[in-house]
Amino acid sequence: MSIAVALDGPAGAGKSSIAKRAAKELDFIYVDTGALYRTIGLAATRNNIEPVESPEVEALLENITVDLTFNENGEQVVLLNGEDVSGLIRTPQASMTASKISAIPIVRAYLLDLQRNMAKSHNVIMDGRDIGTVVLPDAKVKIFLTASPEARAERRYKELIEKGMDVNYKDILEDVIQRDYNDTHRETAPLKPAEGCIMVDTTELDFLQSVEKIISVIKENI
Ligand code: DC
Repeated sequence: MSIAVALDGPAGAGKSSIAKRAAKELDFIYVDTGALYRTIGLAATRNNIEPVESPEVEALLENITVDLTFNENGEQVVLLNGEDVSGLIRTPQASMTASKISAIPIVRAYLLDLQRNMAKSHNVIMDGRDIGTVVLPDAKVKIFLTASPEARAERRYKELIEKGMDVNYKDILEDVIQRDYNDTHRETAPLKPAEGCIMVDTTELDFLQSVEKIISVIKENI
């Protein structure tokens, strides 16, 4: 049987880069579920559909396909109607649309099987907001990874600047705080630590220390 590690936590806690590296070292597959919500957000934006509960969003879901595959480097590729949109979903605007669209129950239901099927067929570290609480409640290891809003905003700011984007720290911090609020206050599958999860705070840890910490938590619990 495959082993599942559920990794939840707020935006910008470093989940994706930390989990990617840990997965590589453990020979697990890293699944970034935020990319799925971002992709549905992109589909809505392209079709001029507001990211709110509506018949338009329901119809949109009936008319798109979302798939996850992996490239030759083992990196996740997300496909919208067969098109690789992995790069297009990484803008601050896509982040905000994803946060809004992820509050819609039919959107969450739509993505449930896709996520569960990934964990059936592979050893996974699955990164999200509700993996330990909703998607994989029986995951072997559940981790809640967090850091202070300021530390998270600073990391995201550096990431975006390195990608050559024109952003400022204050806007990013506001975004982080707004997204935390959206993610923890929505009715369906709000972000919260799963029962029995292990809390890991990376505010004072650098990247490699965080990776080591996550690997040791996983090894001790599988
Ligand atoms: O992890 P991320 O920033 O790429 O996620 C984008 C948005 O999707 C985020 O605001 C929360 C939402 N999300 C979610 O609700 N459930 C998940 N399992 C993953 C992401």
